[in-house]
Amino acid sequence: MDSLSVDHLLGIKQLQPEDIDLIFRTADHFKEVINRPIRKVPSLRDITIANLFFENSTRTKLSFELAEKRLSADVLNFSAGQSSLKKGETLIDTVNNILAMKVDMVVMRHPMPGAAMFLSREVNSRIVNAGDGAHEHPTQALLDSYSIREVHGDLAGKKVLIVGDITHSRVALSNIFCLQKMGAEVKVCGPPTLIPKYIESIGVKVEPNLRKALEWCDVANMLRIQLERQRIQYFPSLREYSLQYGLTKQLLDSIDNEFTILHPGPINRGVEITTEVADSERSIILDQVENGVAIRMAVIYLLADKIDKRNSS
Ligand code: CP
Repeated sequence: MDSLSVDHLLGIKQLQPEDIDLIFRTADHFKEVINRPIRKVPSLRDITIANLFFENSTRTKLSFELAEKRLSADVLNFSAGQSSLKKGETLIDTVNNILAMKVDMVVMRHPMPGAAMFLSREVNSRIVNAGDGAHEHPTQALLDSYSIREVHGDLAGKKVLIVGDITHSRVALSNIFCLQKMGAEVKVCGPPTLIPKYIESIGVKVEPNLRKALEWCDVANMLRIQLERQRIQYFPSLREYSLQYGLTKQLLDSIDNEFTILHPGPINRGVEITTEVADSERSIILDQVENGVAIRMAVIYLLADKIDKRNSS
């Protein structure tokens, strides 16, 4: 397989294992490129990409922009805060106006679940979901699995634990889909109020005790508490949360199992993970960020192959 089975990257749910494998193999090539003295290739010289961010971002926005520039694409950046959305313009009007400027691909982060899928049905452009509310964050899951693969080899049979606010996390859902498609086993751990009731129906086990969960896993992905998406209080206090579900050096040292530590960022140091653990040798948090550029180069490069210049806006 040398072409994706999808025309857009809307979520991991729509991908086949072969798509994920193709993205990883393409990212292997781009990782080698971005570690060369000249970190740029001319592959997408005739492509224009718009990054539309309707929600805050540091890692994803910069990583997409860098990936696009490393591929020599022309890049437009749009932030909702400074736009005419404030004057009442709809999402479709905003995007169609941008596409009228001959844009080939749209990378979008939006607070509404399903926003990327909606856009893919309404406009003539390749769409990449950079996070849609609490739904999916496919490139984060791809870079997480890619980073696990780098340390542990084949994902099949690996035991991956996701800790924290599973209910409000698009990273959790995309990770679950990606890891399962690649043959890994997934467990979650967190306050019962932040574990969705449907979780076992999608093949994910729940381990309420963090120590037991950490003794089981090859990899622990520590998530942030998504306070901005919580409309009610799901646990007594952040202090209480970190006492039960925070990863500390003391806990790490007391467990006889050398699991790898991931975090998608942004980190709330001292809540889900302490500074000592986040910056320890067991943590691959900054490798995840580096791999994010290679993964996003791979996704954009493979989707660019699907652009029909005759019908481009
Ligand atoms: N991991 C992640 O999506 O980070 P940002 O919100 O900073 O993009």
